[in-house]
Amino acid sequence: MKGVILAGGAGAPLHPVTLAVPRQLLPVGDKPMIYYPLSVLMLAGVRDILVITTPADAPRFRHLLGDGARLGIHLRYAEQPEPRGIAHALVLGARHIATDPVALILGDTVLHGHTLHALLREHTRDLTGCVLFGHPVSDPQRYGIAETDARGRLVAIHEKPARPPGNRAITGLYLYDNQVVEIARELRPSDRGELEITDVNNVYVGRGEATLVDLGRGFAWLDTGSPDTLLQASQYIQTLQQRQGVRVACLEEVALRMGFIDADACHALGREMATSAYGQYVMATAREFGAA
Ligand code: G1P
Repeated sequence: MKGVILAGGAGAPLHPVTLAVPRQLLPVGDKPMIYYPLSVLMLAGVRDILVITTPADAPRFRHLLGDGARLGIHLRYAEQPEPRGIAHALVLGARHIATDPVALILGDTVLHGHTLHALLREHTRDLTGCVLFGHPVSDPQRYGIAETDARGRLVAIHEKPARPPGNRAITGLYLYDNQVVEIARELRPSDRGELEITDVNNVYVGRGEATLVDLGRGFAWLDTGSPDTLLQASQYIQTLQQRQGVRVACLEEVALRMGFIDADACHALGREMATSAYGQYVMATAREFGAA
C-alpha cells in the first residue's frame, strides 16, 4: 500500500503565524504537526509515501523529513501550487500510487488511540473499496458527515451540511483500493472549483463498496485549525505525555517498534537531538530495545 500526505493550503485561519511557517509544521505539543499523520501511515505499515506541499513550503518539509531513509521509509515530494481540493492529491499522486491501494491522510490529522495500530492493520489487509473513519464531533456543519441506515451502513456522505443527519464526521484518513485513481480523474470540480473527497467517497458508497469504521470514545481526533484548537491539541498531547511518560507520534519510536530501523539506529537519531527531552526519550526507548 502507498501513502499520500496532503500538506498544502494557506492556513489562513492561523495568519499571521502561517504566513512564514506552513501549518503542518507548527508544533502540536513537542513535535511538528505532520509527525502525527506520518506516524499513522507508519503504524499502518505504509513505507512508501508522497508528501504534497505548496512550492514555497516544499524545502522546509524536505529539510525536516528528507527522503525518510533514516526512519526506514521512503518519502517523495510533489507540489500543489494552489488548493484544488483534497481529491486532487489523488490525481497528483497517480504515478506514485501506480497499481497499488493507497492510504490518503490530511497533513493536519492528529489522531490518537490505543487500538489504532491493530485497527489499521485490520483494514489495510486485503482492502477492497474504501474504508472511512468516523468520529463524533460537536460541530457537524464543518465536516463531511455520514448518513447511515438502521443497520449502520453508509447511505451517503454530506459535505458541510446545513442540516446534518448526525454527528459522525469523516476524519482525514482515507483508505482506497486502486479504483480511486480512475474515480478521482473522472471527478468534476464542485461549485467552489475543487475536487471534493466527499464526491470520491460517495462514488464508493454508490457502488456499495464503502466501509465506515466508527472511532468511538477510545480515540481522540483533534482539531488544529484555529489558534484556540491548536493550543488545546498541544495541551492534550502534553498532558497525556507528561502523565504517562510515553510520547504520541514519536517517529523514531514508531520506526523502531514497527521494525523499520534497529535499536542502534534509533539511538543515533535520538543522540542528534540529545539536548531536547524528545531526543532523550528516543535514546531511552532505543536502550529499552537493546541499544548499546
Ligand atoms: C475536509 C473534508 C471533510 C472532512 C474533513 C476532515 O474538510 O472535505 O469531508 O470531514 O476534511 O478534516 P476541510 O477540512 O477541508 O474543510
